[in-house]
Amino acid sequence: MNIQKIAILTSGGDSPGMNACIRSVVRCAISQKRNVIGIMRGYEGMIHGEFVELNARSVSNILQRGGTILKTARSKAFMTTEGMKKAYDNLCEEGIEGIIAIGGDGTFKGAVAFNKFNNIPFIGIPGTIDNDLFGTDYTIGFDTALNTIIDAVDKIKDTAASHDRLFFVEVMGRDSGCLALYAGIACGAEEILMPEQKTDINALVEKLKESVLRRKTSSVVIVAEGDDGGGAFKIAEAVKKSFDYDIKVTVLGHIQRGGSPTAKDRLMATRFGAEAVAALLNGQTNKMTGWNGKEVTLIDLEKVVKQHNPFDKRLVSYNNFLSL
Ligand code: F6P
Repeated sequence: MNIQKIAILTSGGDSPGMNACIRSVVRCAISQKRNVIGIMRGYEGMIHGEFVELNARSVSNILQRGGTILKTARSKAFMTTEGMKKAYDNLCEEGIEGIIAIGGDGTFKGAVAFNKFNNIPFIGIPGTIDNDLFGTDYTIGFDTALNTIIDAVDKIKDTAASHDRLFFVEVMGRDSGCLALYAGIACGAEEILMPEQKTDINALVEKLKESVLRRKTSSVVIVAEGDDGGGAFKIAEAVKKSFDYDIKVTVLGHIQRGGSPTAKDRLMATRFGAEAVAALLNGQTNKMTGWNGKEVTLIDLEKVVKQHNPFDKRLVSYNNFLSL
């Protein structure tokens, strides 16, 4: 099928670099003489027929901007047969012949379900600060979020050192500790708590006490939002019961999702965008673009949503000596 009209949307949590990716998709498709339609608010906009025509100028001056000009949503309605049917009818009415969606796990679970009862070619692009998708070493936004965390924790460490305090810093990652792990290593955290590992409060207290015996006067513990201890506040409360120390908690929250994308995110977003258009025009469907460290790959969406990204155990092991 010769695809003439391509739709692009962003879905799930916004991530820095999504705009750079939209720009790449739009300009690459236009260079191939294709028409591009932007779907506003992800699958929600598909259901409500929120379509806008995009041209080369619609994506001017967005490369450096965080967020997404197409807006985004987590659509519950799209998970229903009725919602998907409405979305499909709107796509047909608009003459959409191929879809490119930038998003994370939820976005692609939605796509897999949707693709079961329609035949509109679909290519996904990994865009989430969590970097937790199976089949790709990289997701758009991770590097920017990581650098935002590093910047914040470096500042917190100034106060921690000046006041001799122990800080629990909570970072995003509902199901994945990737941001926490990379940030913890890059910031020199004493401990890194992640959903992939059980949190043992007694062991944590023992380690913190031992570090005081090694004459450490301040420490930072990075806690992933989805850690099984219930988040930084709960863990800090539990630790306080058996460790008499000046303890503070900082939850970094949504500052991690915003901001101008780093060079890495702009480049990766541009690569993924161009390759997604090429894949669609080459007749590929139900695939996600991925990164293997060298080049953009294509992986079946079914595989992406069925498996979890293994976390980097080696990096975890480094912290045993780094925190000495
Ligand atoms: O998936 C990206 C992410 O930032 C997660 O790390 C976080 O748990 C979640 O989104 C928060 O989503 P929301 O902004 O909808 O609360």
